[in-house]
Amino acid sequence: MAKVVSILSGKGGVGKTFLTANLAHATALQRRSVLVFDGDLGLANIDIQIGLVTKRHINDFILGDAAFDDVVAHAQSIGCSVISGRPAHGLIVNTTPLERRRIKEALARKAMGYDAMFIDLGAGIEANVIDFVDLSDLVLLVVKPEPTSIMDAYAVVKALPFALRARVVITPNMVQSASEAEILIRQFGGVLRRFLQAEPRSLGFVRTDANVSLAIRRQQPIAACFPASPAAQDIRMLADRILMDQLQPRVAGV
Ligand SMILES: Nc1ncnc2c1ncn2[C@@H]1O[C@H](COP(=O)(O)OP(=O)(O)OP(=O)(O)O)[C@@H](O)[C@H]1O
Ligand SMILES: [Mg+2]
Repeated sequence: MAKVVSILSGKGGVGKTFLTANLAHATALQRRSVLVFDGDLGLANIDIQIGLVTKRHINDFILGDAAFDDVVAHAQSIGCSVISGRPAHGLIVNTTPLERRRIKEALARKAMGYDAMFIDLGAGIEANVIDFVDLSDLVLLVVKPEPTSIMDAYAVVKALPFALRARVVITPNMVQSASEAEILIRQFGGVLRRFLQAEPRSLGFVRTDANVSLAIRRQQPIAACFPASPAAQDIRMLADRILMDQLQPRVAGV
């Protein structure tokens, strides 16, 4: 069974899609087989960040027009299998609980053939988010060192069922330094402990780095364009720690 890692945030635009694509790439570079699912069903766009052009999307599976295997594409740029969430003709909105259950079951089955699966979950808590968090061993909660991002991240943890809060891993992005990340983890972690009885962990952070935007514009992973850049180094370290992490074996089944 794959290690399942979902990437979530309270506020939008904090780097979830960038982290999903680049952690997946860093994991694939470690000779692991990796599946990526664009679970941000309303605003799916991971395909654009990695320069992937696919004919099939999760929507085709939902509508019964394609088998699940047919919506899995290979993304050359990151060396991973990718299930795109972007329908050619618009947005997927309001998936029904039954549709989500079908996606969740098919994903769990498909993930068994991989070493790791990364899910880009989008911002905020919607019904589909809880379903996919339930499938995950680790939930990277991406937080920017800004009050709005921290407040919204708190709201997300609060909205999670209590049993799932233990999977949350605080993941600062766009911090200036390791010490800024440490302060954020300590303070935000303290608030979660005190008010939500959560015991959040952290496995790393990613510094703010102008190369991120350049890599996204090239539709390439940062480790391919700027392997020595601060963000590429941080992502490598975070991906290694995720792979090695043994503390939270998933207990819930599908
Ligand atoms: N570590 C970083 N350093 C500098 N810029 C970054 C970093 N991480 C992300 N960004 C910038 O933030 C922008 C938003 O990133 P991304 O699209 O991954 O966010 P998101 O959380 O997926 O957004 P949405 O909620 O809209 O899906 C990117 O275009 C990128 O330029
Ligand atoms: Mg995104």
